[in-house]
Amino acid sequence: MKIIRTRDYKIFVGDFWEALDEFLKVAKYSKIIILIDENTRRQCLPIFLSKIKMENAVLIEIPSGEMHKNIETCQTIWRQMIENQIGRNALMINLGGGVIGDMGGFCASTFKRGINFIQIPTTLLSQVDASIGGKLGIDFGRVKNSVGLFKNPKAVFINSDFLNTLPKREIRSGFAEMIKHALIADVAVWEELKKIEELGKINWLQHIIFCLKSKKQIVEADPFEKNDRKKLNFGHTIGHAIESLALEIKHTLLHGEAIAAGVVCESWLSMKKADLSKASLIEISDCILKIYGKVEIEESSFSNLLTLMKNDKKNEGTGINFTLLSKPGESLVNNICSEDLVIESLRYYMNL
Ligand SMILES: NC(=O)c1ccc[n+]([C@@H]2O[C@H](COP(=O)([O-])OP(=O)(O)OC[C@H]3O[C@@H](n4cnc5c(N)ncnc54)[C@H](O)[C@@H]3O)[C@@H](O)[C@H]2O)c1
Ligand SMILES: [Zn+2]
Repeated sequence: MKIIRTRDYKIFVGDFWEALDEFLKVAKYSKIIILIDENTRRQCLPIFLSKIKMENAVLIEIPSGEMHKNIETCQTIWRQMIENQIGRNALMINLGGGVIGDMGGFCASTFKRGINFIQIPTTLLSQVDASIGGKLGIDFGRVKNSVGLFKNPKAVFINSDFLNTLPKREIRSGFAEMIKHALIADVAVWEELKKIEELGKINWLQHIIFCLKSKKQIVEADPFEKNDRKKLNFGHTIGHAIESLALEIKHTLLHGEAIAAGVVCESWLSMKKADLSKASLIEISDCILKIYGKVEIEESSFSNLLTLMKNDKKNEGTGINFTLLSKPGESLVNNICSEDLVIESLRYYMNL
């Protein structure tokens, strides 16, 4: 097992069970809540309970999926916490993907002005990205993650064995965040990732550790996203708008699939505004297309997408603010692009 230390908490990566047992013994929480969805109840909870002796834990189960990352689900969580007389000295264990982590952390941090929580991410996406960095929240008013807060967990426990039951499509979704981490910060990792043909054959552990270290470095330098943390938003300004729109029309598009499309569009913007070479743009587009195919976007949805982008909480003032690449492995924050240019980037993607 490897321990990555952040300023506030430790990330245990690998065979963490003994460390988790010890953590729970030392902290002596009055009650433990385990937040799960129907998939992590089936696939992850039995593993958890076979390793950690736990009596009287309160299980709260919510329906899986991004469409449930909302205030209604929070209400059912808070209600069950009240019914189970959860006090301030309780611990919430978020056992699941990014939806469980973001929403469970949000519910824990606001319940009775905040109880402790830990993250046990069980998807690739949450293991390489969502479980660290302290961003918690839910989708509200058409805008992804528009209500939430920054608050760190007490600890994060990551074991890539959980990925054995994760559907292929979910693995692919998480891979998009890995591509993002490589493109914004490390050309050597990008060179490695772009050659990957078969996602089923990867030893994830080393990649997970790279992403965690890279994100930790960026977040610690700028925890509240005043500047360089915006690098992590590469692919997300357009990607989030595509994801929100898909949610509205009940078209199932996973977070990483939308981000992959966003990465292509924002790479095109990088060529126009940040000197990314055409060869790199083509290489990035080819890699994404090979793995994800194409998300269908209609011309008629452009204005809707622009409205969503302008509503993005990372935007201030006029124009739309992007993180762009000057080359693979190097990113620049705060590039304002005009709406026309953004539309052109969507057209580039559609015509691939
Ligand atoms: N807080 C952050 O910094 C941050 C960063 C990136 C993404 N996110 C958020 O993360 C969310 C996406 O996370 P996600 O991709 O993990 O989605 P998710 O939580 O919806 O999980 C994906 C699916 O996999 C299932 N699942 C989870 N673990 C499993 C396992 N081990 N075996 C089988 N099935 C399993 C879930 O039930 C769900 O159906 C988005 O809401 C996104 O906004 C947050
Ligand atoms: Zn993301």
